[in-house]
Amino acid sequence: MLVVFFSRPGENFNVGVVAEGSTAKLAHIVAESTGAPMVRIVPDQPYPTGYDDAKQIIQHELETQARPAIRLEALASEPFDAEQAIAAADRIALGYPIWCGSLPMPVRTFLDEHDLGGKTILPFCTNEGSGLARTVDELRDALPDSDIRPGLPVLGSTVQHDPTCARAAVAVWLDDHSSR
Ligand SMILES: Cc1cc2nc3c(=O)[nH]c(=O)nc-3n(C[C@H](O)[C@H](O)[C@H](O)COP(=O)(O)O)c2cc1C
Repeated sequence: MLVVFFSRPGENFNVGVVAEGSTAKLAHIVAESTGAPMVRIVPDQPYPTGYDDAKQIIQHELETQARPAIRLEALASEPFDAEQAIAAADRIALGYPIWCGSLPMPVRTFLDEHDLGGKTILPFCTNEGSGLARTVDELRDALPDSDIRPGLPVLGSTVQHDPTCARAAVAVWLDDHSSR
């Protein structure tokens, strides 16, 4: 198992301004629960900290189906090659925030740039009320040759304020869906 995630630090509803995004925190919980290494999707151009400023850019990216440039950052105590880890992984837990009901565009760039055919994808997201919204359908459309398992939605505010509750949700989800 490998955990790949995108998350935006900054201002969001119900959490204020956070130094570490809610999806990043949830990714850490998934990684701790599975022993999996993590890969962070980092946009070359960081999103603004302010919600309104970020929203303008994000909406424009969605409207134009932009594919912002990204790099991948391997996060583990021992350094590893993110590209090799992705190629070798049978199962990828893929984490992202819900943006306007959709996958964030840096995640779409990641999907375009990697061959994930034949792999099992376990989607997890943070959101503030939409749940997974359209994102599992978007993943199934983008990755017709992958096995997209049922996703895990967790409120960002729960991850930030009640990590015990988030950990319990991750445990149930992994129990139900992580075996091949
Ligand atoms: C531009 C923008 C659009 C958003 N759209 C939605 C949405 O459609 N539905 C929802 O439940 N949450 C939405 N959110 C809230 C985020 O999904 C939520 O705050 C999430 O936990 C942020 O994760 P992060 O800290 O990892 O970036 C949106 C946030 C932003 C910045």
